Amino acid sequence: ETGLITLDSGFMNTGSCQSQITYLDGEQGILRYRGYDIADLAARCQFIEVAYLLLNGELPNAEELLQFRNDMTRYALLHEDMIHFFDHFPPNASPMSILSTMVGTLHDFYPEMDLDEDPYGGITTTTARLLSKIRTIAAFSYKKNMGQPLVYPRADLSYCANFLHMIFDRPNIPYEIDPVMVSALNKLLILHADHEQNCSTSTVRLVGSSGVRLYPSISAGISALWGPLHGGANAAVMRMLEKIEADGRNYDKYLEMAKDPEGSFRLSGFGHRVYKTYDPRAAIIKQACHDVLGSLKIADPLLEVALELEARVSGDDYFRERNLYPNVDFYSGIIYRAIGIPTNMFTVMFALGRLPGWIAHWQEMNLDKDSSRIGRPRQVYTGIVSRPFTELEER
Ligand code: SDX
Repeated sequence: ETGLITLDSGFMNTGSCQSQITYLDGEQGILRYRGYDIADLAARCQFIEVAYLLLNGELPNAEELLQFRNDMTRYALLHEDMIHFFDHFPPNASPMSILSTMVGTLHDFYPEMDLDEDPYGGITTTTARLLSKIRTIAAFSYKKNMGQPLVYPRADLSYCANFLHMIFDRPNIPYEIDPVMVSALNKLLILHADHEQNCSTSTVRLVGSSGVRLYPSISAGISALWGPLHGGANAAVMRMLEKIEADGRNYDKYLEMAKDPEGSFRLSGFGHRVYKTYDPRAAIIKQACHDVLGSLKIADPLLEVALELEARVSGDDYFRERNLYPNVDFYSGIIYRAIGIPTNMFTVMFALGRLPGWIAHWQEMNLDKDSSRIGRPRQVYTGIVSRPFTELEER
């Protein structure tokens, strides 16, 4: 007999929580980090300023920013024993699996300090170290994937310029830093920096709520981000656009597939759990596509496909009735492609951007002794209520 026992599902103590980090209004399409609108931050800040803001609650002054920048330089190297780990990943290892593995391993090489042991302005040695080292791990995972020699970070470059240097520089072909690409990457990382209780941030909070330290909690968040419904969507968008392009831009075929309730195809880069209007990040990234490709004099046919697909979706009642608009992932891959970053690194780029948000939420939970209880989602049981045991010979 199957009965439905309604448990006191109550307030799933991970279903929602209080936070002072990011404000998101899905109806109005508003996104603010610590009260600042993302349009202002994306247009006027360096990524590490926004990282400081998310972690500390205030934008840094010139002295604080210099100290933070020096920390990014100081902590940019990996322990040489960690470098040997890269020799043991298979040649085709996914950069995302390398990232989640290596970030979790940081815990064994750099013992984490408790938040109250290591305070300086809301940024700790532990968090500054992670922010800088994840960039190095990401760059090294790209070089591993490309079969190229690792390129070490430089002391004279900004966070984004150093990353581009580490992935594109080669002993035989030195990379010349392109300010247009640095600025584009800076904007993208800022726009990905936090988004309240999304899947991967909730994962970091849930894992951290049992007392797991920062680095392994972030490693769990990286794995949660990987899915095509979440941070993997930026790569899925490019695969979808490439398919539409290869298919003679047969948009109607893909729109019809996306409408089929029995079918599994969904338009990657469209829709959102919270936004029921245009994702404000998508609007900024869409404009940046035009600016960056114009400056770099790149004519990418996939941008044309994306723009036409969006136009057709916005003109179709099925999608309009369901409030399906482009989200942060729809146009971001166009810019990564223009910079020269391959599709298998797109979700790694999302993780680089999202790291300050993950850390800020982990810290907020751990600093708030009242709410930092272990996360314990409840359920509504719909299985068999009870039955007598049957012996083996009777089954
Ligand atoms: C991110 O949570 C965050 O904040 C995430 C994120 C962040 O910064 O951390 O913003 C980053 O993950 C953005 C989302 C990236 N994922 C994708 O682009 C994958 C494609 N999107 C869909 O899979 C979907 O829209 C989701 C997963 C994003 C949201 O899923 P929901 O909430 O289950 O969708 P819904 O309930 O709003 O759907 C309502 C209807 C349904 O049809 P009906 O049952 O009403 O007939 O719209 C349909 C859905 O089938 N629908 C889509 C669709 N998304 C929803 N139909 C076609 N294509 C889509 N993309």
